[in-house]
Amino acid sequence: MALLPIRTYPDPVLSQLCQPVEAVERHLVELAESMAETMYAAPGIGLAAPQVGELLNLVVIDTSRGEERGTPLFLFNPRIMEASGETVFEEGCLSVPDYTSDVVRSERVVVEAMDREGRPITLEAGGLTAICLQHELDHLVGRLFLDRISPLRRALYRKRRLKQLKKAGE
Ligand code: NI
Repeated sequence: MALLPIRTYPDPVLSQLCQPVEAVERHLVELAESMAETMYAAPGIGLAAPQVGELLNLVVIDTSRGEERGTPLFLFNPRIMEASGETVFEEGCLSVPDYTSDVVRSERVVVEAMDREGRPITLEAGGLTAICLQHELDHLVGRLFLDRISPLRRALYRKRRLKQLKKAGE
């Protein structure tokens, strides 16, 4: 397995709608395994398929800490079925370099998906896992956490990012 290149803002692949997975086939599980490896190497707590250029409804997450890390959750066709409460957390994203911002999200979510065996699963999550799930599922509809902050702050980041990319290209 090899690490996959992570697409970064403003790559247009990050703002597109992903397609559902029809069946959890072997090559999709292999993609998820490479995504997990890429996520751990970064390091990050979640990665969505469009972040590696694949427009598929697939996310991998692992919000555990320390020695418990290493058992990623693969979620195919994940959907939020219920959401409640409100929480604010300072988010970052592997596709949004050098930036974090407070984001308002639901405090608890119930997510339905298929696991790596193609079996339907239901997850009830709170805390960091609930935030991570919402963040990753946003990626599947082409939404970044930048789309959930004020237009002014987003514009300032965009300006800084484009300048950074221009400098890197010189
Ligand atoms: Ni992200």
